[in-house]
Amino acid sequence: MNSSISFPSGNPYRGSIELSIDPASYDDPGKEKQGLIVHIYTDDLHLRSVEISDLNDLIGLYKCAENMKNYGAGRPWEKSISERLVQRWSDDWKKGNPFSGFSIFKRDVSGVQDPEEFIGNICFKSGENNNAYVGSTVAAGSSEMTFMIDHKCWGEGYGKQAAAAMVNGVAPEYQKQGFKVACALPDDTQESLPLEWLTATVSPENIGSVKILTGLGFEFEGTVEKQFVKGKSIKHFYAKPLPKPL
Ligand SMILES: CC(C)(COP(=O)(O)OP(=O)(O)OC[C@H]1O[C@@H](n2cnc3c(N)ncnc32)[C@H](O)[C@@H]1OP(=O)(O)O)[C@@H](O)C(=O)NCCC(=O)NCCS
Repeated sequence: MNSSISFPSGNPYRGSIELSIDPASYDDPGKEKQGLIVHIYTDDLHLRSVEISDLNDLIGLYKCAENMKNYGAGRPWEKSISERLVQRWSDDWKKGNPFSGFSIFKRDVSGVQDPEEFIGNICFKSGENNNAYVGSTVAAGSSEMTFMIDHKCWGEGYGKQAAAAMVNGVAPEYQKQGFKVACALPDDTQESLPLEWLTATVSPENIGSVKILTGLGFEFEGTVEKQFVKGKSIKHFYAKPLPKPL
C-alpha cells in the first residue's frame, strides 16, 4: 500500500449473505454449454444474474448523468452501448460464464412487490489485463469489480451490501466451485485462470466507493490512466488478494 496517501476507511457490512448458483433452464436450442443463474440475498437486496428483460432498467441507469459522473469516463452512455453490454452479460450467463453482470433489486421481504424495484448493477469482469496496472508479470487470475447504485438510492448502505455480497459471498463460492476467469496477459494472449484477486478502479473524489472498497479490504495500488468506452480517465487502482479456498 502507498503509505504517502491516506484514504477514507469504510465500515464493513456485517449482515447476512445467502447465495445460490444453479444450472439455468434457458430456452436456447443448440447451446453448447450449461447456463447459470445466480441469486444473492443480503439484508436489504436481491442480486440476480442479468437477463435481457433488465435492459430498460440498465439503459436508464447508464444514461443518467448523475449516476455516471464518477463512472468510466464520466459521461452518460447512449442506449446502444448499454444494449451491447446487456447482450454480452446475458450471453455470458447462458454460456455458463459467471464473470458477468448482476442486476440489483431492493429485497421484497413482504413478497407482494412484483416486480422488485431495480436499483443498480454490479459486475465481476473478465478479459482484463490487470497485471499491467501493478507492473506484475505473474499470470494470476483476477477480476475487476464495477458497481453502480441509482442516485435516488445513494447513502442507504446498498452499495456496501452489494459489494460485500460479491466479495465475501460470490468470490469465495466461485473459488470453491473452481470457476476460472479469462484474463488478458501482458503478451496479449488470453488465459483462463483460477480467481486469485479482485481489483477496482475508482475516481479519487469518489469517497463512497473508496469507503466501500477499503471496508472490504481492498488496498490502493497506484494511479492509472484507463481507456473507457467514452474516453480516457485517471483512476485510483485498488486490489484485494483472495484467501485460497479450503
Ligand atoms: C459509489 C456508490 C456505489 C456508493 O453507493 P451507496 O449505496 O450510496 O453507498 P453506501 O450507502 O453503501 O455507503 C458506503 C459508505 O460510503 C459512505 N458514503 C457514501 N456516499 C458518500 C459520499 N458522497 N461522501 C462521503 N461518504 C459517502 C457511506 O457513509 C458509507 O460509509 P461507512 O462505510 O462509513 O458506513 C454510488 O455512489 C454510485 O453508484 N456511484 C456511481 C457509480 C460509481 O461511482 N461506482 C463506483 C466505481 S466502479
